[in-house]
Amino acid sequence: MTTPNLPDAETPDLAGAVNLADLEALGRSRLDRNALEYYASGANDELTLRENRAAFARLKLRPRVLVDVSQVDTSTEVLGLPLRSPIGIAPSAFHGLAHPDAEVATARAAASRQSVMTLSTFSNTPIETVGEAAAGRLWFQLYLCTDRELSRGVIQRAEASGARALVFTVDAPFLGRREANERHRFALPPHLQVPNLGTREQLARMETDSGSQLANYFATLVDKTFTWGDLEWLHAQTRLPVVLKGILTAEDARLAAEHGCHIWVSNHGGRQLDTAVSSIEALPEIVDAVRGKVEVYLDGGVTRGTDVVKALALGARAVFLGRPALWGLAAGGEAGVRRTLELLEDEFRLALALCGKSQVGQLGPELVR
Ligand SMILES: Cc1cc2nc3c(=O)[nH]c(=O)nc-3n(C[C@H](O)[C@H](O)[C@H](O)COP(=O)(O)O)c2cc1C
Repeated sequence: MTTPNLPDAETPDLAGAVNLADLEALGRSRLDRNALEYYASGANDELTLRENRAAFARLKLRPRVLVDVSQVDTSTEVLGLPLRSPIGIAPSAFHGLAHPDAEVATARAAASRQSVMTLSTFSNTPIETVGEAAAGRLWFQLYLCTDRELSRGVIQRAEASGARALVFTVDAPFLGRREANERHRFALPPHLQVPNLGTREQLARMETDSGSQLANYFATLVDKTFTWGDLEWLHAQTRLPVVLKGILTAEDARLAAEHGCHIWVSNHGGRQLDTAVSSIEALPEIVDAVRGKVEVYLDGGVTRGTDVVKALALGARAVFLGRPALWGLAAGGEAGVRRTLELLEDEFRLALALCGKSQVGQLGPELVR
């Protein structure tokens, strides 16, 4: 299936983009209202959505000079997986709204840039197909269903498909209220499937006459009773390391580490609890609470190389991109996501050099005011 106005790979449009904002403008221009509002929206007044960016902008850098930065190495590792730079792709539902190649395009782009893609439970492509495209650079994001057997099957399939971590999203027992999606009744176009969760006929039974259809799927499917003690059950289902996505406080960070989980600092891109703290502001207390016992990652508002520098300086091991990857995908499929990763990595390398650092291990909190 082809979509008429999508650019070929490597069009001048993509090559001409000099930053992620250019790719966002290009990506937005290629989406219909249903998809655009779904990707762009935050919860309620979208204060947290905006604050994720504003908080990065408020942090100031304290660069050092007269350091040999002729060779800058951006590489790092997440859970033992070598990355060319500390930039991965966050899970997002429904890549089929952006491009006909959907999650396969995103996975190929991540693999070709030696990054890592986190595949959403709500993907339009089966885990197995994405696993092949990701060539070992795959994490799987889990929404736990009330039907535990369904989730058990999904976890086993993810593991068999080469996923190297299970990212359990803990900030979404219910879907936050994205008002544009409520107003215009966000719905998945009929040609797109959600193969990890059932057939379109099964999903249709959860749909109602009002509001966002995704909110309806969530209300029916997602387990709202799961608590810390249940993590034992989750660990017993998988050999994969478990990462809890959606941690915003030192208290929960301590509990996560006590329960043998790594931590993904996130407010879901401002899509869940509006007025929740920005992720970069939540990061220091979390890093302080776990004292290096587990790995800590961050997403939310990362669009500049200096954002990556700040997150790493404050203790994150890597950052993940939500919307920027989707804008790249809409702008040009696999090539568009690759361009997103390439531009941000180039910015990050330059920012490191201009901060007087030649390796990610040299970043520390003294760099940020
Ligand atoms: C369109 C969209 C769909 C998303 N779907 C999921 C999802 O299925 N699972 C999940 O854990 N997070 C999901 N998220 C949240 C992202 O993983 C991530 O936390 C957030 O987008 C990061 O903020 P950013 O968009 O500013 O980079 C989604 C975000 C967006 C924008």
